[in-house]
Amino acid sequence: MCGIIGYLGSKNAVPVLLDGLKKLEYRGYDSAGVAVIRDNKIQVRRVKGKIRDLVESLKASPLEGSCGLGHTRWATHGRPSEENAHPHRDCSGTLVVVHNGIIENYLPLKEELIREGHVFRTETDTEVIAHLIEKHFKGSLEEAVMMAIRELEGAYAVAAMSVRDPDKIVAAKTGPPAVVGLGEGEFFISSDINPILGYTPRVVFLEDNEMAVLERQGVRFLDFQGTPLSKTVDHLSWNPIMIEKKGFKHFMLKEIFEQPQVIRDTLEGRISQGSGKVYLDETGLSPRATKSIERVLIIACGTSYHAGLAGKYFIESLAQVPVSVEYASEYRYHDLLLDPRTLVVVISQSGETADTLAALRAIKKAGGLTLAISNVVNSTIPREAERALYTHAGPEIGVAATKTFSAQLAALALLALYLAQAKGRSDEGTFSPLIQDLLRVPHKLERILTEARRLEDLAQRFLAFSHFLYLGRWVSFPVALEGALKLKEISYLHAEGYAGGEMKHGPIALIDEDMPTLAVVPKDRAYEKMLSNISEIKARSGHILALAFEDDTEIVNYADEVIRVPACSPLWSPFLTVVPLQLFAYHIAAKRGADVDQPRNLAKSVTVE
Ligand code: G6P
Repeated sequence: MCGIIGYLGSKNAVPVLLDGLKKLEYRGYDSAGVAVIRDNKIQVRRVKGKIRDLVESLKASPLEGSCGLGHTRWATHGRPSEENAHPHRDCSGTLVVVHNGIIENYLPLKEELIREGHVFRTETDTEVIAHLIEKHFKGSLEEAVMMAIRELEGAYAVAAMSVRDPDKIVAAKTGPPAVVGLGEGEFFISSDINPILGYTPRVVFLEDNEMAVLERQGVRFLDFQGTPLSKTVDHLSWNPIMIEKKGFKHFMLKEIFEQPQVIRDTLEGRISQGSGKVYLDETGLSPRATKSIERVLIIACGTSYHAGLAGKYFIESLAQVPVSVEYASEYRYHDLLLDPRTLVVVISQSGETADTLAALRAIKKAGGLTLAISNVVNSTIPREAERALYTHAGPEIGVAATKTFSAQLAALALLALYLAQAKGRSDEGTFSPLIQDLLRVPHKLERILTEARRLEDLAQRFLAFSHFLYLGRWVSFPVALEGALKLKEISYLHAEGYAGGEMKHGPIALIDEDMPTLAVVPKDRAYEKMLSNISEIKARSGHILALAFEDDTEIVNYADEVIRVPACSPLWSPFLTVVPLQLFAYHIAAKRGADVDQPRNLAKSVTVE
C-alpha cells in the first residue's frame, strides 16, 4: 500500500504534493512526509498521523522548492512513527526516496550495507533503497537507481531525487502502480491518477520493469537495462470535481447516493431498451467464443468477491453455466485445473490488488481465458487480462466500497445476459421483463435513498449493540456478507454474515437478546426458508431487523422491525437490499464518531500480498 507522489515544475511543489497526498490518503494513513530541493539542499518534513497533521506542521514552518516528493504510509515494516515515515534519506542526506511495496530481501541487503559502513536510521525496508542508490551513485541518478533496483527482490513503485543530480525525479516500478502526468512545463509521478487530474489529462502508465526520468525539459522512459522506450500517452476522462464531497459529510455517504447514476452509467450503451440485446463488443468477447464457454470461474477479494458471489447466481440462473467463486488470495495456492472453455472473470475495482493480480498471472500462465472487471481504466489487472469490462462508477474515495459494488453487480448482470444470449438461452418471454426490470433498478434505488433518513433513526436505536448477525439465502447470501463487512470495516463492531441455512450449524449458539439479526428476505425462492430461520431466532429471544419487499404483507408477523425496498425480479434484489445495509453501517459508524472514510488499519487498494 502507501501512496507516492512527485512534482517537478515551476510552482512550489509543497501545495501540489499535499493536495496529491490528500487524494492518495485512502492508500494508507498512519504517517506522511514530503521532501523538496532548495538551494542545493534537501529539506524533509515527516509526521506520524494523517495528512492534515503534515499540513499543520508545514503551516507552522513552511518548506518551498519546485522539485519534490511526497508519501502517505500504511505500515508494513516498522511501526508508524516519524522516523519510519517516508521520504527516506541516504547517509549523506543528499538523496531521498519514497516507496510503495515490499522489499523482500531487505534484511540481507541491510546487513551488507551496514558492513560497508552505511548508517541506518529506521526500521523500514525502504531505507535500503536509499543506501543502495547512494552506493551506486556516480553522477547520474537514473543509472544509480537502475543499479540499485537490480539488487531488489519484491514489489515496488519507487521515486528518488538527489541534490547531486538536481532537477530530476527518477521513478521505477515492479508491482504497485505508478503513473506519470505530462503537464505544460510540469511533470508528476503518482500512485494513481487522482492527484494528476486537476493539472493535466495526459498520462503515461508505467508497466513493470519500467522507469521514468522526469526532467525540466520533459520525461524519458527506460527499461531496467537503460534502453529508451516509447510509451503511449493516455487522455483521462475523469474530472477533478468527481473527487469532491459535494456537501455530503463523508465521501462514503456521497458515494452511496451516487449508486443510481453509477448503475445507469455502467448499463448505458451496453443494453438496448427496445430489443433487450446486450452488447459487450468492447471486451472483444465475440458471441462465437462466448458460446463455447462451459464454465465460469470468478476470482476477487473483499467486496469484489461478494459481487462475484452475486454474479454466480446471475450467470447460473440466466446462462445456465456453472460458476465457482474463489478468493484470489486462496486461489493462488490451488492446483489450477483450467480448460479453454472456462472463462476466468477477475474482479477488482482498483485493478491493483496484489493477491488478485498474482492469481491472474498464475491463471494466464496456465492458459486460462481471462476477463477483468475493473473501475480504473488501464490499471494493471485490466491491462494484463486478455479482456476487460469497465464499470463506470467514477473515482471511489471512501475506503469501504459502496458504489463500485453496485457497478460490479451491473457489469456481472450484463455478462450473465450476454452469456445467455450467446448460448441461445434468452427467450424473449422470460428475458424481456427481466431486462426491463434491470433498467428500472436505478429509479427504485432513488426511491430507497429518498427515505434514507429512516436508516439513520434505526442506526440510533441499534447503537448499544456490539454484535450483529446478517443472514441471507441464495442471492441475498452475498448481500448478508457485504452488509456485515461494511459494519465491521467502518464501525469496528463484530458482525457475521452467514448463509441462512448455515445458521443452525453454529451461529445460532450466539443468539440472545444482545445479538440482533439483520435478515435479508426478498420474496424469492428462499423466502419461506428464511421465515423459518427468523422464527428460530425469535424462539431464542433474538431481535430481528428484516429487509423485505414493500409488497410483503407477511413479514411483519415475523420480524421486530422491517426495512422496505421496492419489489423487483428476485434475481436483481441485491442491487436494492444492499443499500439500506450500507446506510445502516454508515450511520452506526458516524454516530460512534469513527473515521468513516478512512477506517483504521485498512487501505482502499491492497498492493501487498
Ligand atoms: C481492500 C479494500 C476493499 C476492497 C478490496 C479489494 O481491502 O479496503 O474495499 O473490496 O481491497 O479491492 P479491489 O480493488 O481489488 O476490488
